[in-house]
Amino acid sequence: MNSKEIAKIVGVSRSTVSRVINNYPDIPEATREKVLKAIRENNYYPNSSARRLVGMKSSTLGVFVVDIKDNEKPHHVIENNEDLLYGNSYFSPFINAFIDQANKAQYYVLVSTVYSSDELWKIKSSFCEKRIDGGVIIGSKDNEYEKILEVIGKDFIIAAVDINVTEENKDKAIYINLNNYKGAFEATKYLIDLGHRDIGIITGDITKLSGSVRFESFKQALLENGIQLNEDYIAYGDFTEYSGYIGMKKILKSSRRPTAVFVCNDTMAIGAYKAIGEMGLSIPDDISVIGFDNSQISQYMYPPLTSVNVSLPEAAKLSADLLIKSIEKKELVPEVKIVDTTIVERASCKRIDN
Ligand code: ADE
Repeated sequence: MNSKEIAKIVGVSRSTVSRVINNYPDIPEATREKVLKAIRENNYYPNSSARRLVGMKSSTLGVFVVDIKDNEKPHHVIENNEDLLYGNSYFSPFINAFIDQANKAQYYVLVSTVYSSDELWKIKSSFCEKRIDGGVIIGSKDNEYEKILEVIGKDFIIAAVDINVTEENKDKAIYINLNNYKGAFEATKYLIDLGHRDIGIITGDITKLSGSVRFESFKQALLENGIQLNEDYIAYGDFTEYSGYIGMKKILKSSRRPTAVFVCNDTMAIGAYKAIGEMGLSIPDDISVIGFDNSQISQYMYPPLTSVNVSLPEAAKLSADLLIKSIEKKELVPEVKIVDTTIVERASCKRIDN
């Protein structure tokens, strides 16, 4: 089937068929309808835009990496490199596994970044232009996610990673969350069980769910074990190497140094290691460090970093599978999945005597 044959069936010129396909405005509505009907009925797929016009599936999933910095520069710009996506230990394993899983099910993947509120339209337009059949949002804060829901409206199949599930939003998406509470509690308890009492924390971005839950859980674990949290031992990071570096420098300035620090992701632990080394201290003899996320790099750090494993590839596979399940059912099937955590012991923590 080609455009000449469609033209013949409808009784119009070939250029009229092409104008309909390319969405020209000067075609009478009745003619447009007839051409689209013939395209549909004769399974004529000249290219992706025609396919979208006739309401076919795009067989494409979207991944929206959200890192909104309206009042400051995005991390990859600050760090003067393109690390946000390519080298990022959180986004990149997620994206890789998501693409693999989607491809296995014969779906393509369209990846977009959203670095400012002005770019939220990208999400809506990907759906409205039928570029994607469903999409996953990763990296956004709860309030940004609410804005995204408002912008894109309803009737779209979306999944969200690391978002607080509420009565209001629970039916609007598929949610994939990490067991941050359990992971952070166990990490803190691990340090306590090794005899540590002076324990510091470098938090993640506490405006994001994983940042705030990991911090709250750390405080609760200390409280339940009768340990006072020293304000000097808290550094507020944002999940980047640099904030881990600055955070550890701050903590090490305390008059009485902590003997252990819970660093809320492995990326920040890289910066923390650098700060510890620059102060002439050694891990774990002078200070124990435990990370979170069990990023690929943590096994190659020196000493290898003990970390809380949370499988981002598993989160990605779940997101892709559940999106595809909804797409094939032709309606959103809201669900909440939690990816579990376990401690991976390496060499960065040691037992101390009190
Ligand atoms: N680890 C957990 N949440 C994260 C995030 N939003 N960015 C980077 N690392 C993370």
